[in-house]
Amino acid sequence: MTQDNLRKLLNDMSLDEKIGQLIQLDARFFGDAKMVTGPTGNVELTQDQINYVGSVLSTSGASTLKKLQKEYMEKHPHHIPLLFMMDIINGYHTIFPIPLAQGCTFEPELVKKAAQIAAKESTAAGLHITFSPMVDLVRDARWGRVMESTGEDVYLNSCYAKAMVEGYQGDGLHKKGNMGACLKHFAAYGYPTGGREYDNVELSERTLFEDYLPAYEAAIKAGCSMTMTSFNTINRIPSTGNRWLMRDVLREKMKFDGVLISDYAAVEEMVTHGIAMDKKEAARLAIEAGVDIDMMSAAYLGELKTLVQEGEISIDLIDESVMRVLQLKNDLGLFENPYKDACEEDEKNIILCDEHRRLARKVAAASLVLLKNEEELLPLPKESEGSIAFMGPYAMNHELYGSWSWLGTKETTVDIRTGVLAKRSEKVEFYDGCPMYRPGTRARGYEEGNLHKTLDQYFEEAVEGAKSAKTVVMCLGEHRAQTGEATSRTDITIPEVQMELLRKVHEVNENIVTIIFNGRPLDITELEKLSKSILVAWMPGTEGGNAIADVIFGDVSPSGKLSMCFPRAVGQTPIYYSQFRTGRPSSPNADFNFANGYIDQPVTPLYPFGYGLSYSEFTCSNITLNQAELVKGDKITATVTVTNTGKRKASETVQMYIQDVFGSVVRPLRELKAFEKIQLQPGEEKEITFEINEEMLRFYTVDMSFKAEPGKFRVYIGFDSDAKEMAEFVLNK
Ligand code: GLC
Repeated sequence: MTQDNLRKLLNDMSLDEKIGQLIQLDARFFGDAKMVTGPTGNVELTQDQINYVGSVLSTSGASTLKKLQKEYMEKHPHHIPLLFMMDIINGYHTIFPIPLAQGCTFEPELVKKAAQIAAKESTAAGLHITFSPMVDLVRDARWGRVMESTGEDVYLNSCYAKAMVEGYQGDGLHKKGNMGACLKHFAAYGYPTGGREYDNVELSERTLFEDYLPAYEAAIKAGCSMTMTSFNTINRIPSTGNRWLMRDVLREKMKFDGVLISDYAAVEEMVTHGIAMDKKEAARLAIEAGVDIDMMSAAYLGELKTLVQEGEISIDLIDESVMRVLQLKNDLGLFENPYKDACEEDEKNIILCDEHRRLARKVAAASLVLLKNEEELLPLPKESEGSIAFMGPYAMNHELYGSWSWLGTKETTVDIRTGVLAKRSEKVEFYDGCPMYRPGTRARGYEEGNLHKTLDQYFEEAVEGAKSAKTVVMCLGEHRAQTGEATSRTDITIPEVQMELLRKVHEVNENIVTIIFNGRPLDITELEKLSKSILVAWMPGTEGGNAIADVIFGDVSPSGKLSMCFPRAVGQTPIYYSQFRTGRPSSPNADFNFANGYIDQPVTPLYPFGYGLSYSEFTCSNITLNQAELVKGDKITATVTVTNTGKRKASETVQMYIQDVFGSVVRPLRELKAFEKIQLQPGEEKEITFEINEEMLRFYTVDMSFKAEPGKFRVYIGFDSDAKEMAEFVLNK
C-alpha cells in the first residue's frame, strides 16, 4: 500500500479502530491457550473490543492463523489484517541451543543461519514477528534469563544482535521466509538488583550508554522492526513509562523509528510499581513515552479513548503510534497478502527437515564448551575397547531444549543415548543414576513422575555400573525450567542429589567425564575436582544428543568459548572479565593485604569469558604492530601467528582485547574488540591480523562526550580474556 493510501486509511479509521491497533492480546482471547507467557491479570473484554485489536501473540500454525485472519478481517470495519507474534528465540520446531550457548560459538554467521531457519519455519506456520533477539547484557548468573542472552560482553552481543536481526529479516520483511525481529528488553533488564527477577536497575548514564545500549544499537542499525520495553525500572522509573529512555534515547539518540511494544502487562503494572495512580495514568505515561502497543493489559483499551476525549492527550499521539503499526503491517505486505507465508504444504516439507536438523546439530556442536580434559579422557574411543557407563538425569533425557522452546518436543529431540548408540553400540551402558532432584522435591516445571526405585537403588545400580566401566560419563545439570523468565536463584549449584551420585561414583572410578546441562553458568567448583573432563552442553536443542556424540567421540573437535564466565561461587556474582581498575588491585600472592577482592575466594572466576579447550593445542606468537602510534582516521594492524601444535584438526578463536591505560574516568582492565575463529590442521600455522582504529577506542569521558582520549593503550591477543601476549601503542592527539 502506498504511503498516501496508508495515511488515507488512518484518517478514515474511527478512534475505537485506532486504539484497537495499539492493543495486543494473547491467543487465549482467540481460543488457543497452549502458550501463556505472563500473568493472566484482569483483562476483561467485550467481543467488539476483541474484534478491533491489532495483533495477537503466542499462537501459530498455518491453518489456524489463516482461519483466524480471515474471520477477523471480515468483521473489521476496514478489514485491517492482524499481526501474529511469538517468542521464537532459539528456533520454531527445529530447536537450536539457547542463545547463551549460541553465544559460545563465536560464529555470528552460523547464528544468523539459525535465525534464518527459525524464520522459515515460523513464517510457514503463519507468524510475522518474533520477540527476538534478546540483547540484554548479562553478568549475574543468579538471574534466570541469562539463557536468553548471548552473554557478558558488549562487543560480542552486538555482533550477535546484528546477525540475528539479519537472519530473521533477510532482505525484506515482505519476502517469503522473512519475519520481523523485535529486540528486547529495552533497557538494561539484565542488571536487576541482587539478580532478582523484575527488580530495580540502578546504573549510571555512562554505564547504560557504554555497556548496555551498544547491542541494542547494533540491532537497530541492522534494521530491527520492533523494540520491546523492559519490566524493570531504570533508576526508579519503569522503562515502559520512561519518556527520557524511550523518546530521547531510543528514538532520538539511537534513531529507532519502528514499533515499540510493551512487555506483557507492563503498562498496567506501572500502577503496581506505584508510579501511576491508576490504569488511566499508566496509559498516559506509556503513550507519552511513545509505547505503540500495549501487550496484554487493559490500560490502553480501557483508558486511551477517555484520555483523548478529555483532552489529556492529543489524538496526534494516537495517530503517530497507529501509523507505525500500519507501516509495519505494510512492510510485511499484509495489505496485499494478509496470510503472508502461511502454508500447510510448506509446514509439512520444511519443519524439522533434514537440512534444518543438520544445521541444528552443527550449531549445537559448536556451542559445546570443553572446560577440562585431563589425560585426554576425551575423545572417547568408538571401537569397543573399554566399556563406557553413561549416567545421570540427562543420560536418557529428551528434554534438551530451553524453557522458551514452546514447540520443541521430547519426541523430536535426540537424547544422548540415541546419539551415542549411533556412534557405538558395543560396551556402552546407560543408567538413570538418580532423579533430577531428591525424591519429594518440588521444583518449578519439574514433574517427578513415578520413581520406580528408591534413591539407594538408583545409586547402587549406577555405582556397580561405574565399577565395571573404564570411563564414566556423568550427565548432570539443572532442570530446563530452572532458567528463563522468573527463575532467579540464590544457589547456582547442581542439585545436591546429583552431586551425591558424582561423589559415590568418584569413589569407585575416577575416570569421569561430566557433561553439564544448564541455562546459566553454574557453581561447579566441587564438580570440577571430581571430573577429569568437563563439557558444558547448555540446553543444546533438537539435535543435542547427536551433537554431543559428535564431540565426545571426536568426529567434531569442541570449539566453544564461554560467552559468560563460570564463577567460583554465587557470592562472586555479578562477575565479568572487563572489570574496572581499582586503587588497590587484587594481588593473589600476599596472604593479607589491602587489596580488591575477597578474603575467602580469589577475585577471578573459575573459568573466564572466552575460555574453551579443543582436542588439540595452539600457540600464539608475540604481537607485531605495524606502527606504535595511531592518529585519528588511520589504523594500526596487530598481527600474530597461531599454530596448531597438537595432533588433531581443530578450531581456535583468536581474541583481541584492548586496555585504555589512562583516561579521564577509570577504564576497564580490557575489552574485547575483535575475534576470529580459525580451523587448522595439525602443524599448520596461520597469520591473524586485526585492525585497530580510533573509533573502537571511544568511550564516555568525564564530561560524557563520546570520544577517544590520546594516550597509551595495550593490546592483548590470545585464546580467552586472560590473554597474556601484549603490545603497546599510543593514540596521538
Ligand atoms: C514475557 C517476556 C518477554 C516475551 C513476552 C511475550 O513476559 O518478558 O520476553 O517476549 O512476555 O511472550
